[in-house]
Amino acid sequence: MISINSEEQVFHLQTLNSSYILKVSDAGHLLNLYYGPRLEHRETLSHLNHTARVKLGSTTAYSSADERYCLETQKLEVGTTGKGDYREPSLHITYCDDGSSTSDFIFDRFELSGDRPDLPGLPHSHSPSEDDLSLTIVLREKLKPVELHLHYTCFVHTDTICRSMTIINRGSEPVVLNKACSASVDLPEAGFEAMHLSGKWIAEGQQQRHSLNKGVFSIGSSRGVSSSSHNPFMALVSPDCTEDYGCCYGFALVYSGNYKITTEVSSYDQTRIMLGVSDLDFAWPLSGGMQFNCPEVLMTFSHGGLNLMSQHFHAHIRQHIIDREWQDKPRPVQANNWEATYFNFDESKLMSLARKAQSLGVELFVLDDGWFANRNDETSGLGNYNEDRKKLPRGLAGISRKIRQLGLQFGLWVEPEMVSVNSDLYEKHPDWAVTSPGREASPGRHQLVLDMSNPSVVDYLYEQLFDTFRRAQVSYVKWDHNRNLSDVYSNHLTAEKQAGFYHRYVLGLYDLLFRLKEAFPGILFENCSSGGNRFDLGMTFFMPQTWISDNTDAHERTKIQQGFSLLYPPCCMSAHVSGHPSHQVLRHTPIESRFNVSCFGLLGYQLDLTTLTTYEEKVIRQQVGFYKKHRALLQQGVFYRLLLPASNQRAWIIMRKDKSEAIVGFFQGLQVSNPTLKTIRLPMLKPDVIYSINSREQYQNIRQYGHLVNKELPVSIKDRGILHGIIANHYLLPVNAESYTMHGDQLQHMGIPIKSQFTGTEITEYVSHFGDFGSRLYHIRCLDC
Ligand code: GLA
Repeated sequence: MISINSEEQVFHLQTLNSSYILKVSDAGHLLNLYYGPRLEHRETLSHLNHTARVKLGSTTAYSSADERYCLETQKLEVGTTGKGDYREPSLHITYCDDGSSTSDFIFDRFELSGDRPDLPGLPHSHSPSEDDLSLTIVLREKLKPVELHLHYTCFVHTDTICRSMTIINRGSEPVVLNKACSASVDLPEAGFEAMHLSGKWIAEGQQQRHSLNKGVFSIGSSRGVSSSSHNPFMALVSPDCTEDYGCCYGFALVYSGNYKITTEVSSYDQTRIMLGVSDLDFAWPLSGGMQFNCPEVLMTFSHGGLNLMSQHFHAHIRQHIIDREWQDKPRPVQANNWEATYFNFDESKLMSLARKAQSLGVELFVLDDGWFANRNDETSGLGNYNEDRKKLPRGLAGISRKIRQLGLQFGLWVEPEMVSVNSDLYEKHPDWAVTSPGREASPGRHQLVLDMSNPSVVDYLYEQLFDTFRRAQVSYVKWDHNRNLSDVYSNHLTAEKQAGFYHRYVLGLYDLLFRLKEAFPGILFENCSSGGNRFDLGMTFFMPQTWISDNTDAHERTKIQQGFSLLYPPCCMSAHVSGHPSHQVLRHTPIESRFNVSCFGLLGYQLDLTTLTTYEEKVIRQQVGFYKKHRALLQQGVFYRLLLPASNQRAWIIMRKDKSEAIVGFFQGLQVSNPTLKTIRLPMLKPDVIYSINSREQYQNIRQYGHLVNKELPVSIKDRGILHGIIANHYLLPVNAESYTMHGDQLQHMGIPIKSQFTGTEITEYVSHFGDFGSRLYHIRCLDC
């Protein structure tokens, strides 16, 4: 809902639970009067304009007409330089006619519409629903013929406001954009804490939280991809904000390249936050008549803690970012051959894996890296699209047919934006690789990046991929990008356009993806960049799921998935059960825990299924059955992070919107000695109904108990002896089942009463054997809803 008082020039944007109020100042600047809990709309809101109206010693007044009006203390929607706002600007332009860079944008007009703003070439939130409106406020530079179109779309039901900005050069002289943020918000107070997700390869999405003190703090990427160093997301939270309590503002950028999110706590205790394409190595010449579109930003406010902020984002991403085709469609359970074989496979090995996968209930078989010519390790072959005929004598078409005959879908890995020096493509088009003239290119995973700013490269890739996807009859594509950019330069661009290379690269990529999505609307794309090195909402627009980390260790995954859940819903995150020990951290975790963590994402298996013990096979078959039975809930439910007193434990719940059914996951790190009794409180359930709570049927390997098995068995067996091995491979030791019937209010305030943990004294029905990295799933169902 957007209400406008034209006389007072006030714009009131309302979502279900938030209000965002703008006003044009007497001098013509666009001010932010309020962002926070929803306010009733009233005819007059101008009096909310609460800014300093005193002369301030050393500062600069905007004009001599009013010495009490200083831009430095105003809450501005666009921050520029030259007129007394000394904070970090959100927009910086050099006017080429005279070399000046003072900008002063004032209100010109506004437009209201039921459609979303046009952001050609960029991913964006899909068209709003009937209740949602878009407002474009046009500001014009006081002296130069440049216009800013500030777009706001109010998504009422997801409590999200989308912003972006278009800069139009209406004159004939060129201008250069040195910085162009999509959105800037000035909040009236200081004292916020910043929350964001930092990381690195195999340790993505690690939550950070710290106070913002006076001065500038920024995160971003200079790697050419949004990167795992910092996800393009930040929340400003009140210091008392917890998962379920307190105020927070969430911001996320729908973009996949270099970006920057900057906060500044000003001398006057206001907090500014800006998001946009990075200004590092960026200068964009805008000739007369041309426009520049800034990528979209999502903003949401929550007065119910971090969980509510995440739920707004999750709902928005599911309903408005993810491709409509995949919004509600069940995502298939996959088996991927990477950690099972790496490059070392042939058709017969793949078929054995696929047959076993099929017998376990898997639905999609994914052929990962190594299927094309000259690709037996990382050093060569990228750029080739012809199959390695030694590994696949009947080519992609042949293996795909055989896999589909098993009743499985066929999926394929590609890494289109890269080229190996040792490849036909590089030999033919060395000028298509990103390298800086006269310098030796710095390698990354032995490969170079293709110049996506060059339309000939994009056209070539489109043709190759079109042919490959057709030939292989793929239902699914894993799109990888395994190195950061370096030696950035394009042989295709003129000198003045080089400083826009990073952004032009992203536009080239988006162009390719728009075309492929149109040609293959039914293909499920999975985004990957050595795991989560390009996990962002730009890629999520094209690819509804992401391989968020190469780290498949169950314990590490609880941190990574929990971190990313601040912004992304479980249905965006692929999560696979892999072998043991973990290939990334050499840790042994129970196979049931590997599943329990993975099922809070999109389930897959990435281990050599042909070497499973009978025990493992049975367990996996049961896991896949459980996942499929509860798939709608696990992939589409409302997700919460649960509060637990112990730091070595994590718990999550995913619940139907109507609260009639839920699954709780409880994950333990290292076992502590003689632990105190725990409950898991579920404040989100309905208080006045009855729920049944049943632990998922889980099994464990008796190997875990060594010679302690003799305490329980009637016969004595030797630890690690032949008999022990045979029993361990065939016998499933059931975990003590837990089953309760409780009223909703009891679960809200007391919680699920988890059984005592093993303390070395006895193994009885009252004891639960968690051990290191143990976990449980509880299925909760309302009995009288
Ligand atoms: C990246 C991906 C992996 C795998 C390999 C193949 O590292 O993240 O999942 O696909 O590439 O080379």
